[in-house]
Amino acid sequence: MHPYAVGVPSLPELARDHTDLGPDDLAWLGLLQADWQIIADLSFADLVLWLPDRDGSGYWAAGQMRPTTGPTALVDDVVGTFVATGRRSLLDAALREGRIAREGDPEWRDDVPVRVEAIPVRRGQQIIALVARNTNLHGVRTPSRLELAYLDAASELSQMIAHGTFPHPGQRSDHADSPRVGDGFIRVDAGGVVSYASPNALSVYRKLGLTTDLAGQHLAEVTRQLVPPEQRPDEESISAVLGGRMPRDTELGNRAGTVIVRSIPLRPTGTHTGALILLRDVTDLRSRDRELVTKDATIREIHHRVKNNLQTVAALLRLQARRIGSVSGREALEEAVRRVGAIAVVHETLSQTYEEEVEFDAVADQLLALVSEVGGHEGAVRLRRTGSFGTIGSDVATPLAMVLTEVLQNAMEHGFAEGGSGTVEVTVDGGASELAVRVVDDGVGLPPGFDPEATGSLGLSIVRTLVHELGGSLRIGCRADEPGDSGPGTVVELSIPRRTVPEQTS
Ligand SMILES: Nc1ncnc2c1ncn2[C@@H]1O[C@H](COP(=O)(O)OP(=O)(O)OP(=O)(O)O)[C@@H](O)[C@H]1O
Ligand SMILES: [Mg+2]
Repeated sequence: MHPYAVGVPSLPELARDHTDLGPDDLAWLGLLQADWQIIADLSFADLVLWLPDRDGSGYWAAGQMRPTTGPTALVDDVVGTFVATGRRSLLDAALREGRIAREGDPEWRDDVPVRVEAIPVRRGQQIIALVARNTNLHGVRTPSRLELAYLDAASELSQMIAHGTFPHPGQRSDHADSPRVGDGFIRVDAGGVVSYASPNALSVYRKLGLTTDLAGQHLAEVTRQLVPPEQRPDEESISAVLGGRMPRDTELGNRAGTVIVRSIPLRPTGTHTGALILLRDVTDLRSRDRELVTKDATIREIHHRVKNNLQTVAALLRLQARRIGSVSGREALEEAVRRVGAIAVVHETLSQTYEEEVEFDAVADQLLALVSEVGGHEGAVRLRRTGSFGTIGSDVATPLAMVLTEVLQNAMEHGFAEGGSGTVEVTVDGGASELAVRVVDDGVGLPPGFDPEATGSLGLSIVRTLVHELGGSLRIGCRADEPGDSGPGTVVELSIPRRTVPEQTS
């Protein structure tokens, strides 16, 4: 069980156990809680959601929010606690009278003077809960213009809660990037004209290119001038949102910056008095998003070009092979063509994915096809794969493709006489971190006295080196020596980690 979940009941649990609140009431309280950080910040106060219990004996604390703009008044968590009716006269008064109750004198709690205000939460005709606003008066000085503007907006929102006009039904900010009060705060009046803009809000607009002050300007008008049409919401919503008539989140910007705007219309007594507009500069966030996208695209483009270049190299080698008189020389070049081709296959696959992972089955099958022409068997030797490689780190994919090519090529080349027939089977057993790959042919088998460690030939040197670099292991043997197998032919067994371990990639 989650250590923090122990003992702290949730809002629905408290509501179920102690109240008659229905699902719609809970949804309303959920909406309120989605936005009450804003109210806590604007009022520099701790908010506590109290649920009056069903038999009128008291209140249950069902939620708590601390301000990020000032000191907390509630050092301890209160959720889950109960206060009896009569102990907090403000809660009783707010519930009884259905209006905001406040007192002149502060309460003293743990040597902290706290001013308390109780706000009834109205949904339709019902008071379904109470919000207590607890202000730590130690933090209160003569308020600045910013603080006054915050407190005004907070009291308007509080009145709206008491009148049942906040939260806005159906309007909830799901934006993870949703602005907070401290990110930028603008108050517009009923005509959409800015009456106050916080220094941060002004900075956001300066970034968008504003050279004048914001106060006194028509916000939608100013914004329209700064933001080109393609980077702002449609005309109708820009005036509705920035004019403060529509509760909504929107994103707008220009070449200099991107801003998330949140608009909360205010109608404390039923008539529209303007809006609270919160802004957040997300320029850096967005440009990082864009950078990531272009970085991905660039990496894929590079893979594509590497593949093209490798194919060019292969074509040149093939041309040269045709001109060479000596048979062994020609064969050597043709082998080189296939080695280059095997690497090209991996880059081709990487150029088509977004991930740092490769679905290796497609690569393996292309390699099988590439190798099938080796040794001039004209289709009489069948190559097949059983089992799946699954996804493999792109750093492992290229060496693994080369290893596989060498091993398959050997089976085709040395296992079967020209014109011979048989089968080469690749069996994959994929674990989460390791791959077991067996390549078994039913050809002539290894030469007598063959010591795979001792050969100085290129093919197996490549295999040994790459397997070693990947941190894997390699075993080559005769099928006759395998337990449960007695046929002719050769077995090559590889064990390869799916991804390189970090210290090896550095
Ligand atoms: N599947 C096999 N069946 C029979 N002999 C094999 C098999 N695999 C490897 N050998 C033997 O191992 C030897 C070494 O293989 P290796 O790939 O290192 O060199 P090569 O194939 O001769 O030349 P290249 O460098 O062009 O690959 C081969 O010459 C062959 O005798
Ligand atoms: Mg070889």
